[in-house]
Amino acid sequence: MAASLIGGLVADNWSTDQIYVAEPDEGCRESLSSRFSIHTSHDNHSVVMASDILVLAVKPQVMRDVTTNLAEAVLRKRPLVVSIAAGVRMVDLSHWLGDYLSLVRCMPNTPAQVGSGATALYADPSVDNAGRDMAETVMRAVGLALWVDNESQIDAVTALSGSGPAYFFYVMEAMEQAGIELGLSRETARLLTLQTAFGASKMALESSDSPRELRKKVTSPGGTTESALTVLKEGQFKKLFAQTLNAACERSKKLATKLGQYTDE
Ligand SMILES: NC(=O)c1ccc[n+]([C@@H]2O[C@H](COP(=O)([O-])OP(=O)(O)OC[C@H]3O[C@@H](n4cnc5c(N)ncnc54)[C@H](OP(=O)(O)O)[C@@H]3O)[C@@H](O)[C@H]2O)c1
Repeated sequence: MAASLIGGLVADNWSTDQIYVAEPDEGCRESLSSRFSIHTSHDNHSVVMASDILVLAVKPQVMRDVTTNLAEAVLRKRPLVVSIAAGVRMVDLSHWLGDYLSLVRCMPNTPAQVGSGATALYADPSVDNAGRDMAETVMRAVGLALWVDNESQIDAVTALSGSGPAYFFYVMEAMEQAGIELGLSRETARLLTLQTAFGASKMALESSDSPRELRKKVTSPGGTTESALTVLKEGQFKKLFAQTLNAACERSKKLATKLGQYTDE
């Protein structure tokens, strides 16, 4: 995810001289510096001391160790800290960083790897507009970036767009399989599925019509699409999706509670 962000920033013409990365693995550091010509270091502290905006892109499970070790440097340098870690709440981050409050929490998704991510951001109320703009600019380098009004909405975002690519991959998998069962070759079924998914998404993004209106426009009475959609309706497709997102949202809340279990230590 960090490499995707760096790639996006470089493509957005950010000066590579302004980008510093701390990475413990030597091979990974070499690869990042030869790929992007940025500053790399094994030392997290030196990167904090060079940064106005610090993006925390480590796994949620190591976030506590990383941030507690950085607290002193962060309190001295006072950068805007942006966490992209799933399931790590601001209250925990703040606590681990010595009650630091200049924090933004983001939830990106995997299409960030191809510059088409969808990220929701939430800022601590103490972060000013300049800080919010800075965080948004970084996340916009890999796609759409939207603000949410309260942190609890990040669990819903995790369920919708965070896990969302997998739902679409699953639908694509099912359509490809069904196409094969109807007599198409795997390659033809796959390419038609992928291009249809891409085309439908592009059309919905570019149209002023809602997806519901677009669906109605392509559903002629008595036609093939109507027959297909009747099957989905009878299978309670919308209810199934509501349950799907609800399961992801509940899991997100549970994981955050588990990861934050050391908050009061
Ligand atoms: N991937 C996604 O689609 C996605 C979506 C939403 C949110 N996120 C969040 O993004 C974060 C990164 O995810 P990822 O998939 O990119 O994970 P990842 O590939 O494991 O990247 C984490 C990076 O942090 C490095 N690291 C580990 N310990 C460190 C330390 N003490 N100091 C500095 N760097 C350290 C790792 O180095 P080593 O490999 O050498 O350990 C690795 O390069 C996670 O918190 C995840 O929840 C990811």
